[in-house]
Amino acid sequence: MTVADEHPSAGTERARLAPVLATATKELAAAGVESPRADAELLAAHVLGVGRGRLALIDTIRGDELRRFVALTGERAKRIPLQHLLGTAAFRHLELAVGEGVFVPRPETELLAGWGIEHTAPGATVVDLCSGSGAIALAVADEARPGRVVAVERSPAALAFLRRNAAAASTVEVVAGDVTDPAVLSELRGTVDVVLCNPPYVPVGTAVPPEVADHDPAGAVFGGADGLTIIRPVIALAAGLLRPGGVVGIEHDDVHASAVPELLRADGRFTEVAEHLDLTGRPRFATARRG
Ligand SMILES: C[S@@+](CC[C@H](N)C(=O)[O-])C[C@H]1O[C@@H](n2cnc3c(N)ncnc32)[C@H](O)[C@@H]1O
Repeated sequence: MTVADEHPSAGTERARLAPVLATATKELAAAGVESPRADAELLAAHVLGVGRGRLALIDTIRGDELRRFVALTGERAKRIPLQHLLGTAAFRHLELAVGEGVFVPRPETELLAGWGIEHTAPGATVVDLCSGSGAIALAVADEARPGRVVAVERSPAALAFLRRNAAAASTVEVVAGDVTDPAVLSELRGTVDVVLCNPPYVPVGTAVPPEVADHDPAGAVFGGADGLTIIRPVIALAAGLLRPGGVVGIEHDDVHASAVPELLRADGRFTEVAEHLDLTGRPRFATARRG
């Protein structure tokens, strides 16, 4: 039973919200959605124009709202990412515009951004490589007091979202560039305080959920056969950009717990190489200091 089956003529009468949410939750669970109740509530809150926390205070939903909710639930059951349906993704204290063509920022990346924020002194120059929607760059600009944050992204579709998200952030500069090009940001060589990067890092052939396979751009997710195709040149680029004493943080796949620290050590220009876990205890990002 889907909400559409239960409310075939949605559009005329008010319906009770609690059973509508219960049916939508079952529909999403049957479709394999990982957090069906949360997604149903977030879609309902979106349609009703309230925060999720206020749903408990709402008894009924109007016919036109129910029709929109039924449609959105049906889309989510087809495994269209929740954030694409909402048009935004939450990242730390930010709501970022997202949609087809840009990677949806993930909660685990909030940890790398938090590490970057802790290492950003007032006035610092920060570079966010592979910036996507701008999640890391904008969180640093929002929560630290950098002098300048340079966000580098290659994909035109992602750049459109990045520019939109960064429009009001006066310290953030968007650069259309390829992080595998050693000449990118050459004017900043030896001057950068913090380099952060969440690159495409999933090894090609790894099974991913439909939301990722069908809606995140492949060029944002997969990092070549071993997942390290972008990370290798990023390490060399970061070593060239950083001033002595500057720091780098790179997110990676959980299979790269030793590979990325080893690549940082092998470069020969870094000290204090360290590995960091995410909230589920999985290896998630590596950091180092430019010697
Ligand atoms: C995993 S997403 C991360 C996006 C964002 N930093 C975040 O954490 O949500 C990787 C991003 O790197 C971009 N990208 C991939 N290869 C690139 C390259 N060679 N140069 C610049 N950006 C690249 C993709 O378009 C995508 O936006």
